[in-house]
Amino acid sequence: MKYKITTLAILVGIFFSAGACKKQDNDMEALPVSKDGYYQEPHRPQFHFSPDSMWMNDPNGMVYYEGEYHLFYQYHPYSTVWGPMHWGHAVSTDLVHWQHLPIALYPDKLGLIFSGSAVVDWNNTSGFGQEGKPPLIAIFTHHLMEGEKAGRNDFQYQSIAYSLDKGRTWTKYEGNPVIPNPGIRDFRDPKVFWHEPTQHWIMIFAAADQVKIYSSPGLKDWRHESDFGRGIGAHGGVWECPDLFELPVDRNEENKKWVMLVSINPGAPNGGSGTQYFVGSFDGSQFTLEEGYTQQLSAGRPAYWLDYGRDNYAGVTWSDIPEEDGRRLFIGWMSNWSYANIVPTERWRSAMTVARTLELQQTPQGLRVYSNPVQELQSILDEVQEIPPQEVSSRINLSSQLKEASSTLDIYLELEWPEDAAPTAVAVVLSNSKGESVHVGLKPSAGQFFIDRRNPFEAVHLAPRENPSNKTQLRLLVDVSSVELFADGGKVVMTDLFFPNEDFTKAELVVEGDGVKVVEGSIAGVDSIW
Ligand code: FRU
Repeated sequence: MKYKITTLAILVGIFFSAGACKKQDNDMEALPVSKDGYYQEPHRPQFHFSPDSMWMNDPNGMVYYEGEYHLFYQYHPYSTVWGPMHWGHAVSTDLVHWQHLPIALYPDKLGLIFSGSAVVDWNNTSGFGQEGKPPLIAIFTHHLMEGEKAGRNDFQYQSIAYSLDKGRTWTKYEGNPVIPNPGIRDFRDPKVFWHEPTQHWIMIFAAADQVKIYSSPGLKDWRHESDFGRGIGAHGGVWECPDLFELPVDRNEENKKWVMLVSINPGAPNGGSGTQYFVGSFDGSQFTLEEGYTQQLSAGRPAYWLDYGRDNYAGVTWSDIPEEDGRRLFIGWMSNWSYANIVPTERWRSAMTVARTLELQQTPQGLRVYSNPVQELQSILDEVQEIPPQEVSSRINLSSQLKEASSTLDIYLELEWPEDAAPTAVAVVLSNSKGESVHVGLKPSAGQFFIDRRNPFEAVHLAPRENPSNKTQLRLLVDVSSVELFADGGKVVMTDLFFPNEDFTKAELVVEGDGVKVVEGSIAGVDSIW
């Protein structure tokens, strides 16, 4: 977004926003409302998905069907803090622009609607299809508040619902729950996929400190297959929102491995919530870690993390992406339970990360999951300017390349330094006229990437850099109150929020110690999607 929000526009925005909230409470059909000031409140992301108003957490039910990417999400329609969960709903045809739709799933007598997934039941194994039309099936956790309050342990269980109108309306199955609770307090977040070799549906969900794997022929009757995770990986908190999918290694379809994502809260490397991953094999019943992987994980390193920033949680991948596309597409909730309920936004709370592709690469250190923004984002780049190759010994201004100052930026830098004269630190520094700043970069000798958001918000976050090379690529997506760093080609990712008192519109490359060479670079403003 170009930096031209006047005080008047903000006031107009707040005025219209207040109206919008009321409207939404009474009439879920009528979204969105006014264009004046719409999505222009302080800190409001411009190219990330955020709800029109009120509270959002985990992405749910991501499925692709008939040209639409569905994004459901944990939603509290009556407050900007967490509360009774519904499934909010939006669709996109390009993973970039989103259209808000009415709430998809409401709480009922079995409980609130916690996180889960959705699939297309192409062969109508469930029998919910009609006239040759496959049903969309949502698989979610019912959370019974009364049960929790009564001190029972069995208040979470898995249920299903189906839709015959492209996810617009849903009917809950009268036989719910499909997996009752055997007495495990944390028993939630089902992710379902079709396993071709065994011709069964597989469900993976979190149960306390591990995941449970179930199978089913038709989504209604489920059989327990196995458990994974006790004593493996990070266990600083409860396990949540797992995912399990197959990925080619180095894009070689002949050599595939299975990747398991497991979110955990707390216990992430920089505190609070985070998502770890495991690489292995899956036979339709059991997930088995790669051999070397077990050794690496037990050798003092508790886990590999999909994102080392503070603000990417509960992310999972889209179901039913057409084979000709073939990508494994991911989106995460861009916040952290450590402070999600109190971040200084009004009218709405929380956004998602950008949609990302996940790929598996063989590296000298082992198999690693690489994340990168989807290429569809290129369509909203406003003005791409080259950052010419040059030596940088202290600092250069990157944002002055753009015709207009912008608080949304896509910055790419390929940097190099002599083997024997590495800089102490290299960072892109985002700042405003109030002297506030966020630093995003690396310390080559320390082998670390970092985001420093101490000024004005919280701490320094670190990510290990396994690759000791004297070259790096940094891609930064900056969106008013967030930065996503994709480093070393996507091997290391860090997503962090920040809340400056005035938008950051200045971006500089700052070097400490010996200099660096910019081999290649570019900077672009990013258009608003709203
Ligand atoms: C993860 C989570 C899930 C749960 C949902 C409730 O952020 O705690 O485990 O289903 O949020 O909103």
